[in-house]
Amino acid sequence: MKVLIHNTPDSAVDCVAGLIAGRLQRQPDAVLGLATGGTMEAVYARLIAAYRRGEVSFAQARSFNLDEYVGVPPDHPASYWHYMRAQLFDHVDMPAGAALLPRGDAPSPEAEAAAYEKAISDAGDIGLQLLGLGANGHIGFNEPTSSLASLTRVKTLTRSTRAANARFFDDPAQVPRLAITMGIGTILRAGEVVLLAHGEGKADAARAMIEGPLSAACPASALQLHRKTTVVLDQAAASKLALRDYYDEVHPAGRDAPI
Ligand code: GLP
Repeated sequence: MKVLIHNTPDSAVDCVAGLIAGRLQRQPDAVLGLATGGTMEAVYARLIAAYRRGEVSFAQARSFNLDEYVGVPPDHPASYWHYMRAQLFDHVDMPAGAALLPRGDAPSPEAEAAAYEKAISDAGDIGLQLLGLGANGHIGFNEPTSSLASLTRVKTLTRSTRAANARFFDDPAQVPRLAITMGIGTILRAGEVVLLAHGEGKADAARAMIEGPLSAACPASALQLHRKTTVVLDQAAASKLALRDYYDEVHPAGRDAPI
């Protein structure tokens, strides 16, 4: 696991946007795994700016998002479909049909989850997977105690996750109890993983993910098994890491270059 600790959240966001842009420049037909959440809004804003400057194109890319709320149709303002259109898809040249999310309003969420898993493996799996980090250590909507070998399926959200996401709904009581999420096993098949977390609220989860035992109690700790994961943090999210000095020595100020 490569741990890059940046001085500011802005610099961490620039780093992650740069990693995605770099992948698209080297491999225009990359299969991207995309994430939602407040943290990613700035990443997508950077990518839109890069697209407008002519530095990146999504014309040949494909994408699969991590998750979607069960029972929430794509045109609902709190759906992840809606989020992705507003934050990225409506502003770049990704062809319609190349960007996929699970359908939250599918008649059988279980069948939808299985079909989504198959679509990912039929696409040759994710090339670069972007991840945020839940304050409880979740990735996608893989809540604590998720099987580390899990595939795309329906998960029950924890109370704390529903509370953390209540701000996206008009009424907190509307936050669904269930979501369709890629599994941890699905995520671990990605060729490369880039995880971004900033702020003090992520410090405990970041420590458990990077330095804690490999455990379903912290789903993100499964990334310790992945061959090519880059974790990008700001100072606050990195504040509880025991080996902080080591990460700073290897990658001063989060620079990803040999010293
Ligand atoms: C949600 C998403 C996750 C995301 C997490 C963190 O629950 N399903 O993919 O990483 O929240 O969100 P935020 O960036 O808003 O803190």
